[in-house]
Amino acid sequence: MDNCRIIELKSFGDERGSLVALEMGHNVPFDIKRVYYIYDTKRNVPRGFHAHKSLEQMLICVSGSCKIKVDDGRKEEVFELSSPEFALYIGKNMWREMFNFSQGCVLMVIASDYYKPEEYIRDYGEFIKSLERGGG
Ligand code: TYD
Repeated sequence: MDNCRIIELKSFGDERGSLVALEMGHNVPFDIKRVYYIYDTKRNVPRGFHAHKSLEQMLICVSGSCKIKVDDGRKEEVFELSSPEFALYIGKNMWREMFNFSQGCVLMVIASDYYKPEEYIRDYGEFIKSLERGGG
């Protein structure tokens, strides 16, 4: 699927444990403006249900696991994030839904811009229409 891919993160492990570093331009393919994390998600509660007109993101399950359905308007794919050593990159104009959060899951999101509600598309029909207009 274009505009969405798994990025393997190099983990530095030794007898003390493990460490992953995120660096823009190296393993993060955009300039980082914002980081947030989703945690304490209640049982069977899905989140997301939106697309972004211009935002790029990287999602990393730093603890626990969850699933992410990504839809580019032509096809959809479900990714399971269950390791802090893998990130899901999601480009602009991609519908996403997050679900199956495990107990204790912490989903960290790295984003290319500040929080801008006007940049969200929260209606699926509107998302498809925006793609027909060329996206955004
Ligand atoms: P929401 O967009 O509903 O989360 P999700 O897409 O993961 O289901 O965001 C929940 C609340 O948090 C909402 O009131 C907006 C606020 N929020 C911020 O203030 N800053 C942010 O960076 C994000 C992502 C959300």
